[in-house]
Amino acid sequence: MSAQVITVASLKGGSGKSTLASCLAVYWRMRGWRVLLVDADPQHSVLRLAAREQALGGLPVIARADRDMWKAVKEQAGDYDLIVVDTPGFDSEITAAGLAVADLVLIPVKPSPLDVDRMTDTVGLLMAGVQGWAPTFRCVLTQTTRGSVIARHIRAELEEAGFPLLRQELQNRVSYAEAALYGATPTLTQPDGAAAQDVQELAGEVEALLATRKVRSA
Ligand SMILES: Nc1ncnc2c1ncn2[C@@H]1O[C@H](COP(=O)(O)OP(=O)(O)O)[C@@H](O)[C@H]1O
Ligand SMILES: [Mg+2]
Repeated sequence: MSAQVITVASLKGGSGKSTLASCLAVYWRMRGWRVLLVDADPQHSVLRLAAREQALGGLPVIARADRDMWKAVKEQAGDYDLIVVDTPGFDSEITAAGLAVADLVLIPVKPSPLDVDRMTDTVGLLMAGVQGWAPTFRCVLTQTTRGSVIARHIRAELEEAGFPLLRQELQNRVSYAEAALYGATPTLTQPDGAAAQDVQELAGEVEALLATRKVRSA
């Protein structure tokens, strides 16, 4: 069995890519899956996180921030159930390489019109296709404020514009940064906390998508 690949992409910096990628990868590892996290961002946020005390719970991380990164992903695919790729917010060539190898693309977006505009550029890149082929993608609202009008507004706007959005949001919570201090995610530091629950719900939605894909390709 070859690993399924999830690429986290957005041409907008600070949208929450590295947080989303590391939280999901750690979550599935804690569930007993064989997970590899590929850091394709030359700024190496994820690699640096893994160098801190808790080392993302022992999650294997490799850094490959170049256009040929997809080759490394293919080479590793036999040894894992799932490979999560974190991409830079600016380099569209590395991002395109990440999209080319993905079974599923997750696009984090903050609930602000400025962020949504940049997100639609990312989807434009996706739709332009990598050699005529565009992977399945879903948008994820991140850093939302509970019950805020803007998150609801942006959700409605995205849905109206035909951008598929996961139901679960990653709310704005300080526990992500607190966990990162120790090279961890909330799943490791506060497994019963609200952030860990958000991650679990989100992971469940993603698992359902991967399962559908598997059935299709079987
Ligand atoms: N759900 C969240 N709640 C609170 N802070 C968040 C959340 N997601 C991301 N952040 C913070 O926002 C900043 C940017 O997130 P990051 O994942 O590094 O974005 P990117 O990789 O897209 O540049 C970081 O300081 C991170 O801790
Ligand atoms: Mg990042």
